Amino acid sequence: MRIRGTTAAEIAGSVRDQVASGELAPQSSLPPVRALAAELGVNRNTVALAYRRLVEAGVAETRGRGGTVVAAVPQLAREGVGVGVGGDRIDLASGNPDPELLPDTLAAARRGDYNRPLYGVPAVDAGLDAWARADFAEDIDRPFRTLVTHGAVDATERLLDSHLTRGDLVAIEDPCFLASIGTLRLSGYRSAPVRVDGAGMRPDALRAALEAGARAVVCTPRAHNPTGASLTAERAADLRAILAEHPQVLVIEDDHFSAVSARPYHRITPPSSARWALVRSVSKFLGPDLRLALVAADAESTVHLEARLSAGTTWVSRLLQHIARELLLDPRVHELHERAREVYARRSGLLVERLHAQGIEVPHRPDGLNVWVQLDVDARAAVAALAQRGWAVRPGHLFSPDPAAHPGSIRVTSATVTEPQAQAFAADLASVVAELRSSAG
Ligand SMILES: Cc1ncc(COP(=O)(O)O)c(C=O)c1O
Repeated sequence: MRIRGTTAAEIAGSVRDQVASGELAPQSSLPPVRALAAELGVNRNTVALAYRRLVEAGVAETRGRGGTVVAAVPQLAREGVGVGVGGDRIDLASGNPDPELLPDTLAAARRGDYNRPLYGVPAVDAGLDAWARADFAEDIDRPFRTLVTHGAVDATERLLDSHLTRGDLVAIEDPCFLASIGTLRLSGYRSAPVRVDGAGMRPDALRAALEAGARAVVCTPRAHNPTGASLTAERAADLRAILAEHPQVLVIEDDHFSAVSARPYHRITPPSSARWALVRSVSKFLGPDLRLALVAADAESTVHLEARLSAGTTWVSRLLQHIARELLLDPRVHELHERAREVYARRSGLLVERLHAQGIEVPHRPDGLNVWVQLDVDARAAVAALAQRGWAVRPGHLFSPDPAAHPGSIRVTSATVTEPQAQAFAADLASVVAELRSSAG
């Protein structure tokens, strides 16, 4: 390997050429700044600047004392891909909705007036847009524009990319939705973790993240994944007041469980926020395979979002939008959602009850598809021991940008849990915890 150049741009360019040609493999170390500066006969600051640019461009990563290494595509945990799911294990790991509580998408595709649109068609189905406008108008008390994206993750990524640049700090919940960690890492943003309690983001933690320079906040107003927390009206007002002091910060509210949430929506975006979006994915109540989310946002953000959609995928398939519209306008689907709301609340309540009966701590009553369980033993060891007993669940550290966080937490997906399963799982977890305690003591 021979890195050349006398300016930061030349040195960075030389490294990029070698990464592109394969001479420098992912994860290989770049020479220490001091050594390379001496070799090239340049100031150390020049090499340091070159390395910083490579990190900002996502070509390299810093490893603290371990120096700078060539970046690799990060290995990211994903929803639905449960660790240890398979064989005879019961899947309490996937984070998926119950397929029995999703409507019939194929039947909806055949109803209505789908007429094979061609290039040049408006990006949003008029009927779907009207439904979305009415839905958002109940919760947003100022002008907004609507758009359709390929799901919430897509909306979040495009919104962040519209307003931020690599290296910017983004406040996200800790713990948080797996895809948020992936989105930030892949786009080169730094994360400012904001602790969550039973009422959502903690105000002191949000304030600290904003004071540290966060340029965007991504917040789940209810049925937080993985903890099940939902904002109370009081907490939302506190967060709104803090955000009002930072009107240039992009506020993204990811209301992913909207139609099937047992809790009301409380808004955290203050009237003074210049850039904001409320994102409502249909994944949890029409099905994740529709890959579709409805977005309400300020005018500037929608223009950016629209431009980014046009440049890449052009529009979200009108067939998918047609299906979503047919389903959202169908009173039978509303009845199904009402049932889903009750069933999900009953199942998570049941699991919490059974766990409590075994003396296992669940910090608050959750909403959503998951229950966040607090253990006083190592969660990874508990997950492994549960796998031996036929249960797949996920360890808490996966849901944080900091791999050392939440060492005693596990996430248990309650979406499809039955009464006998809840009972048996709670008993198995209690005995796993007892075993781990006695082997630790
Ligand atoms: C917090 C959160 N947001 C969004 C989603 C859904 O994202 P998408 O619309 O991209 O399917 C999920 C799914 O698990 C989630 O937990």
